[in-house]
Amino acid sequence: MTGELSPIDKAKFVAAKRAAEMVEDGMRVGLGTGSTAAWLVRCLGEMVSRDGLKITAVPTSSRTAALARDVGINVVSLDEAKWLDMTIDGADEFDADLNLIKGGGGAHLQEKIVATASDQMVVIADASKSVERLGAFPLPVEVLPFGWQSSQALIEETLVSMDVMGRTTTLRMNGDAPFVTDEGNYILDLHLKRIGNARQLALVLNQIPGVIENGLFIDICDTVVIGYGDGRVEVR
Ligand code: 5RP
Repeated sequence: MTGELSPIDKAKFVAAKRAAEMVEDGMRVGLGTGSTAAWLVRCLGEMVSRDGLKITAVPTSSRTAALARDVGINVVSLDEAKWLDMTIDGADEFDADLNLIKGGGGAHLQEKIVATASDQMVVIADASKSVERLGAFPLPVEVLPFGWQSSQALIEETLVSMDVMGRTTTLRMNGDAPFVTDEGNYILDLHLKRIGNARQLALVLNQIPGVIENGLFIDICDTVVIGYGDGRVEVR
């Protein structure tokens, strides 16, 4: 499954593998989105086919759903599963309090719904995702396409009064067209550089008309599994 991996892929793989070992027979598991989460899905697929592991999984994107089905994992909707034992997902940044920025893959809306419908959220990440303060990674905000420029203007106005360093916002593109999420929405990336009060920002952003969900995960993650390029793994 792995062949010769670059240090960054090795770091993602070992984190994913360790988290996969936390999954027990009969569990209902939320599956994240992104390159690290893809390693997790492949590891779980191997455990299903090789060891007979029995799990029911809820994917957080169409991409993850397709991969999970491909590797033989039993996929159901969140409404069918109702509640999950564990969600395992990647992150773009995590801080010492295990608060996160997510949405680099544009799936943070489903990811947040699935994670908060779980007994525990485990994040898998290479060590480069560890930060002292959130905000260097542009904060994704999913917005309704209707009137998105008005939502963008309101977000920029709001940022003026917030404890952030940068205020530029950009519409995420996919070639010449806007990037469209699984729910048919757009993503605005907020280039904030440093977020002073992430909890407050998360609440304020979601009050703006047209904003569907932001990529700040505050008090949602329980455990971070950090992988290193030399194969070491640290669990926090
Ligand atoms: C997708 C996400 C991803 O988990 C995040 O972008 C990390 O991705 P990767 O594992 O590829 O670095 O939030 O919406």
